[in-house]
Amino acid sequence: MDSRVEDFTASIHFDRRLYRYDIEGSMAHAAMLAKQGVITPEEGESIVTGLRSILEDIERGDFEFRPEHEDIHMAVEAALVDRIGDAGEKLHTGRSRNDQVALDIRLFLRDEIAAAVKRLEKLMETLVQKAEEEIDTIMPGFTHLQKAQPVRLSHYLLAYREMFFRDRERFLSCLERVNVMPLGSAALAGTSIPIDRAFVAELLNFPRLSANSMDAVSDRDCAAEFMFAAALTMAHLSRFCEDLVIWTSDQFGFVEMADSFSTGSSLMPQKKNPDVAELVRGKTGRVYGNLVSLLTILKGLPMTYNRDLQEDKEALFDTVDTLSSSLEVFEGMVATLVFNRDRMLEEAAAGYTTATDLAEYLVTRGVPFRSAHHIVGRLVGYCIERNIDFSDLELNEIRRFYPPADESIFNCFSVEASPDRRTAVGGTARSAILQRIREIKEAGHE
Ligand code: ARG
Repeated sequence: MDSRVEDFTASIHFDRRLYRYDIEGSMAHAAMLAKQGVITPEEGESIVTGLRSILEDIERGDFEFRPEHEDIHMAVEAALVDRIGDAGEKLHTGRSRNDQVALDIRLFLRDEIAAAVKRLEKLMETLVQKAEEEIDTIMPGFTHLQKAQPVRLSHYLLAYREMFFRDRERFLSCLERVNVMPLGSAALAGTSIPIDRAFVAELLNFPRLSANSMDAVSDRDCAAEFMFAAALTMAHLSRFCEDLVIWTSDQFGFVEMADSFSTGSSLMPQKKNPDVAELVRGKTGRVYGNLVSLLTILKGLPMTYNRDLQEDKEALFDTVDTLSSSLEVFEGMVATLVFNRDRMLEEAAAGYTTATDLAEYLVTRGVPFRSAHHIVGRLVGYCIERNIDFSDLELNEIRRFYPPADESIFNCFSVEASPDRRTAVGGTARSAILQRIREIKEAGHE
């Protein structure tokens, strides 16, 4: 082989990461071959012992990955033959690297899904805890980044908890399709060696076998699904980060990040920057890119295995690493946020954010909603012209727009009371939020 081809086709420098799964799969395969009488029990034992010693050496950092071994599968097999001789040459009976790598990826994804789910659960717990702490904090809710209506900060925090809950479900749903055992598909067409696939599946704890050997060796759907679930999780993290970048600005001043989760400027001594939030937002782009990269690799592949598929791994590994570090650091950042409650309330009160409360009050007095909307709109215009707030209005001024007005109308202008009028399920009233927190705690993560 031309040395350029050797370098170009090698994947050992990144797929060595799969060593544990590769060895685990080979141990199960060898045990099955022995049980089936394809190899002798002694050969089976010698293979398993040899593989175990390789595993231990790799974990100890005592294993030399040689460049002439193009991938992890070749490296382990070559080391096995070195250590145990002839029996090692029998390991690859009834198997191809095509079904072997398909198995390795599934074993790897199984662990990574469990890790992602755990990190999401931790983050959800932190958000619920913060929501409880901030139950009495009123903030302006925004649409179009324009102040809209007063809401409770808890409601905002729990909105993200809902997103992360769906992300967790998405990973767990992906796990059902990951949990399918492809070994036995061989190169593409299965094998005439009398194998027992169900036995291998049992050893490796797979509830199902792949049903079509051609599909099994060319399928990377579960990797694509995982990468989509990761991409959407990153989208949620990124949106939260965007808010934090805005909220930590001097202009907003809604929240302060802990010193341990902010950075300074090398030039301006007074600066405290939300770099962690910005980096999570920035890294979201990589995770999107990885997904698009895999989807693009898949779109033009003739059946069945093609070497293009080797390009799945770096994108997948980068997604796994970016997602896990982002979730870790984000959780710490959120746990240490200090919200400026006074400032949030002040901003919630300014800017006629209770205009909708007033319109809804008029509706309770029998005014059709469209007319109520119009009346309040004119009243807001009047206030803006005079540069006053709702709370500065006199009853006789209100009566110019709504003649039957009485003192009770002033209740509408309280920002503290406003969220609590929205009591329906899913609303931002204190009672609705506390109810939701109770439900969450009762259900656990289910
Ligand atoms: N390193 C390869 C991959 O990751 C393993 C399978 C190679 N199969 C082959 N027929 N060349 O896809």
